[in-house]
Amino acid sequence: MSINKEKDFGTPAATSENMVTLEIDGFQVTAPAGTSVMRAAASIGIEIPKLCATDSIEPFGSCRLCVVQIEGGRGMPASCTTPVAEGLKIVTQNKKLADVRRGIMELYISDHPLDCLTCSANGDCELQDMAGAVGLREVRYNPIETHLNAEKDHSNPYFSFDPTKCIVCSRCVRACEETQGTFALTIDGRGFDSKVSPSQNQPFMDSECVSCGACVQACPTATLMEKSVIDNGQPEHAIVTTCAYCGVGCSFRAEMKGEQVIRMVPSKDGKANHGHSCVKGRFAFGYATHKDRITKPMIRASIKDAWQEVSWEEAINHAASELKRIQAKYGKDSIGGITSSRCTNEEVYIMQKLIRAGFGNNNVDTCARVCHSPTGYGLKQTFGESSGTQDFDSVMKADVILVMGANPTDGHPVFGSQMKKRLRQGAKLIVIDPREIDLIKSPHVKASHHLKLRPSTNVALINALGHVVVTENLLDEAFVNERCDVASFAKWKTFVAQEHNSPEASESITGVPAAELRAAARLYATAKNGAIYYGLGVTEHSQGSTTVIGIANLAMATGNLGHDGAGVNPLRGQNNVQGSCDMGSFPHEFPGYRHVSDPVTHQLFEHAWQTKLSSEPGLRIPNMFEAALDGSFMGLYCEGEDIAQSDPDIKHVHAALRSMECVIVQDIFLNETAKFAHVFLPGSSFLEKNGTFTNAERRISPVRKVMSPLAGYQDWEVTQMLANALGFPMNYSHPSEIMDEIARLTPSFAGVSYEKIDRLGSVQWPCNDEAPEGTPIMHTEHFLRENGKGLFMLTEYVPTIEKVTPMFPLILTTGRILSQYNVGAQTRRTENVAFYNEDRLEIHPHDAEDRGVKTGDWVGIKSRAGETVLRALVSDRVQPGVVYTTFHFPESGANVITTDNSDWATNCPEYKVTAVQITKVSQPSEWQQEYSAFTEKQLDLLEQGMSHD
Ligand code: SF4
Ligand code: SF4
Ligand code: SF4
Ligand code: FES
Repeated sequence: MSINKEKDFGTPAATSENMVTLEIDGFQVTAPAGTSVMRAAASIGIEIPKLCATDSIEPFGSCRLCVVQIEGGRGMPASCTTPVAEGLKIVTQNKKLADVRRGIMELYISDHPLDCLTCSANGDCELQDMAGAVGLREVRYNPIETHLNAEKDHSNPYFSFDPTKCIVCSRCVRACEETQGTFALTIDGRGFDSKVSPSQNQPFMDSECVSCGACVQACPTATLMEKSVIDNGQPEHAIVTTCAYCGVGCSFRAEMKGEQVIRMVPSKDGKANHGHSCVKGRFAFGYATHKDRITKPMIRASIKDAWQEVSWEEAINHAASELKRIQAKYGKDSIGGITSSRCTNEEVYIMQKLIRAGFGNNNVDTCARVCHSPTGYGLKQTFGESSGTQDFDSVMKADVILVMGANPTDGHPVFGSQMKKRLRQGAKLIVIDPREIDLIKSPHVKASHHLKLRPSTNVALINALGHVVVTENLLDEAFVNERCDVASFAKWKTFVAQEHNSPEASESITGVPAAELRAAARLYATAKNGAIYYGLGVTEHSQGSTTVIGIANLAMATGNLGHDGAGVNPLRGQNNVQGSCDMGSFPHEFPGYRHVSDPVTHQLFEHAWQTKLSSEPGLRIPNMFEAALDGSFMGLYCEGEDIAQSDPDIKHVHAALRSMECVIVQDIFLNETAKFAHVFLPGSSFLEKNGTFTNAERRISPVRKVMSPLAGYQDWEVTQMLANALGFPMNYSHPSEIMDEIARLTPSFAGVSYEKIDRLGSVQWPCNDEAPEGTPIMHTEHFLRENGKGLFMLTEYVPTIEKVTPMFPLILTTGRILSQYNVGAQTRRTENVAFYNEDRLEIHPHDAEDRGVKTGDWVGIKSRAGETVLRALVSDRVQPGVVYTTFHFPESGANVITTDNSDWATNCPEYKVTAVQITKVSQPSEWQQEYSAFTEKQLDLLEQGMSHD
């Protein structure tokens, strides 16, 4: 069976509104000006042979296979590089053209190994197809020199490079430049000697390549080929689904053989990714079938006992009876649940429903608590809605892009590539970050300003930007007067204009030279379209919400809202952070961000769910831990979240988990939290279930089951079984019914249905009667606050209580790397460990020298909360006084040292600021030694209970 591929129109679509009409092979066709003849022909079903052209990259015109004739014209132009023109008459096929094409193919094939039957691309090779299309029957040339002995490169864990099959069409080189923006490939040499080569003639693995796979996808032959296809053969059917890693939410075709995923190919129709992907989404799917998957439910009386495999029925009944027992003993509020942004919308929705209606309290929280809860708070207060304002494509209209506390090329790589494309087109870039992120200087991209601030001084910096905008009169007063609450604006204006907010006054706080800050403020404020993108470097601070509000103030004051190319855009870390928040997984909010005490909403849900609901906000995650240690919170249902690794001050978290009487973990692996659990309910990966994810641009995209759940049930079914066992009936037969209920009860989702998502591919909320096909850009006419006006709020800078002292003289800040994902439970179980297999501590050369530390040395990192040990990487990407690490490996214990300081409004932890001391050491920390022993013990208890059948 051969797979249905997405149609290739040969060249990218033109965007002109001017239409031109021409004739191709006697058929009339109308196309936007700038369309190639090749694409216009393809649009009416005429496929002109081609090799060097593909519609994801600009045409190049090198292979000449696509030649055509133009009536009244001379020669044979290439149809991929010839634009349509009014009245043209094109001939795509006649004897002369056929002879030329056959001649070209003959030359290609004379230097090609004719091993089609055993080639991995057999059945999916454009060279093979073109040989057939042009009717090649013989090869008369027998060249003395060929490339048939060229050396192969298998260094990349996911794809191979076999230059014996290369036709030097340069599609890979252009994909790496245009689509990915990495410029890792070149064509070296000339004429016969020309060959594709990764940077500095190195193997792929040692080059600049970031393994996005764009070149593999663009290659028309088997030269660049996925190893999974080489090993398993061509896929036979495809199902469109959505990546389960980051908040970009890329759309993929899962190309399958039976129930085996052969490869993930980014979908050209994906509105968030337009056919592009990163290494995680495209290649790192092997964790789904990793041997560590746990597929049988398990229970045990205490965490000192061996696990015991039981039937689903027994596990669910045991979990339900434990939860009931705890409530009977300690009260209704003694249990709760934590949802995850890795779960689908439907899973999160029924989880919070189970807790509110089945547990009878509002003790539900989500991992967004520890990442973007300040975004929810700050944007809700100022704009009236807790979400980013733009679609990703809006960046292509931005003239100035301000990136604050985000690292898009690592954290949100496909959007990072799109942003780089816009920057190469000439948009200006301002980066606000303590660290030298890749975006600041990459091929053909250079930031106009890098405001290298000290960690924890975001608010002072934002106020200083506001000061320049106000005092230099760079305001958009017309926008403010028409769209915003003018009284609040007047107060803000007076506030930021105060001398203590000036760039000169704040320089000693932020470390950013006043002149540079003034220049950046002017650049942003005077842009036609200025867009702000921010990440966890903004939110994960004691004043995270204040900075979000400051960003919103700045965008309103300069009129950079409500239109293409502008906006305020949180880059969400995990795949469904936006969705899990939308679905009501906070203890104070029903779905759609409505307070649990709001009488109308309360009544609506009581009526719909046919039960009494509490109108008291429940416990946030940190409060659950406190209550556990106090002895008043004794039972936890935790789905898809690994609080024992991801939450701050981990020793405190572990103590809280140890003190609970029943911890129920639903996950695909025995994660860190499950080591403290009493019930383990096996979860399903994104490949095993139906549902939806909502990405950072509010886009609701389909997640489709491509293989059967390894443990027998999809996650929403497990929650439903638990609800029924607890006596709160749920009877959904498909997640679409859950979405229908969400739509009935949530105004911003009123128009959402699976039918619509299937029809449109995806839909951005708000989607309702006012916007039946969704809302790409928000606040275009008015803000979503009750009076429709944007609210300015004052943002006084309050220094964090986490101070550097002679004992803790350095500031530790944390972040992510491209190839790993969050707690690493998935990516550590893929070949991505070949790119990055341990967290390292980046330290500036001066600080390293002071301590006698060299790259590769083990260093102890001690904070007021604890101590851990990592290997050092001496690097001037960090400034003196600042050290940096990622947090993808549990044994690193990054959260042993983070403190319990948190955002004043939302309790989001201050992960980005920890005062530490660094010393050279020779052995793991005490905590790490305890961790290893505990992990070994827990794996042993798992092994003892497993049946291995
Ligand atoms: S995998 Fe991506 S980064 Fe690497 S060479 Fe190919 S296109 Fe470039
Ligand atoms: S590797 Fe593939 S895409 Fe690149 S030049 Fe060779 S045949 Fe073309
Ligand atoms: S950018 Fe994000 S959503 Fe897209 S493939 Fe990579 S991890 Fe997946
Ligand atoms: S496809 Fe047009 S020149 Fe190669």
